[in-house]
Amino acid sequence: MSATISLGSKKHYPVLLKEIISIISPQNGGTYIDCTFGQGGYSKKILSYPNTKVYAFDRDDKASTFAYNIKKKYKERFYFKNKKFSQINKTDISNNNIDAIIFDLGLSYTQIFDSKSGISFKSKGKLNMKMGINEFSANEVVNLLEKKDLEKIFYKFGEEKLSRLIANKIIMQRSQRNLNTEDLVRIIENTKRYKKGTHKATKIFQSIRMFVNKEISELLFGLINSFKIIKPGGKIIIVTFHSIEDRIVKYFFKNFSEQNRNSRYFPDIQNNKKLFILKNKKPIYPSNSELKKNPSSRSAKLRYAEKINESDVFQDEFINKFKNLIDIENISKKL
Ligand SMILES: C[S@@+](CC[C@H](N)C(=O)[O-])C[C@H]1O[C@@H](n2cnc3c(N)ncnc32)[C@H](O)[C@@H]1O
Repeated sequence: MSATISLGSKKHYPVLLKEIISIISPQNGGTYIDCTFGQGGYSKKILSYPNTKVYAFDRDDKASTFAYNIKKKYKERFYFKNKKFSQINKTDISNNNIDAIIFDLGLSYTQIFDSKSGISFKSKGKLNMKMGINEFSANEVVNLLEKKDLEKIFYKFGEEKLSRLIANKIIMQRSQRNLNTEDLVRIIENTKRYKKGTHKATKIFQSIRMFVNKEISELLFGLINSFKIIKPGGKIIIVTFHSIEDRIVKYFFKNFSEQNRNSRYFPDIQNNKKLFILKNKKPIYPSNSELKKNPSSRSAKLRYAEKINESDVFQDEFINKFKNLIDIENISKKL
């Protein structure tokens, strides 16, 4: 779940904001893309420095209201698009001189507290989990997919050890009536033992949300297309909240940063060509003072890299590496 909020106080805290500002140095102006606008925490801060320009994306049209308010103040320097970030290269900003592209994955304050979005296990009623611009909802996933597919989704995207048992119970109980959010939470609660810290339903809800929003291919193509449009010397910065996202980002930056790598996808002449300089080998975590103010930032990890060379031959290798996860997303073709 996102660390952009503090669930206790319901106050909005853009996660790792100070660290991001220090990485991009907007004091000197510059053009930035905020791929996950949310409530605009990053965009607002960047725009508070003169001579900056921000292009923001969010797939959730509820973000448009926050964007509208920022646009009123910064007419000439702020642009918002209600689009998915995987489409970042399919807009009129593609040829700009982009200094940094920032991703803050996860959920916004509004998504967590909107009971209709059905994203939180605290929601009520019909299963949903759509972040915006979706093809299907959690209702179809839970009530229509067959047992072995549910089990795969729970296991691969949620790393849930009791996937089979939970999938079994879903199949049995949905034969009587369509399952809603409360039914799903009850099934999970009755199956899993209490574990201190996280709610029992966290992993299963995360897995269904990732599936409904195709978060794996969004991330893969968000990174690939960011690389395509950012200028050499520009930085890609990404804050992740769970191990699957972090594994993908770490591979992308590390694998294409190694000097002496050998890859069957790179022609000989490019074998030693790096795409990035890795700026931090280890991830950056929220400081103690941020954790105190916003305890839900505890799972946030920031990684970033600087583009140094153009290349269009890394894409197949990157996608193939995570093909097993894309295959899980493709189960949705059955819906
Ligand atoms: C954690 S919030 C961002 C909060 C923001 N940094 C702030 O300070 O207000 C993540 C946002 O990213 C959006 N999002 C998630 N996946 C997306 C995608 N593939 N394309 C565009 N927006 C996406 C969500 O709708 C959500 O509003």
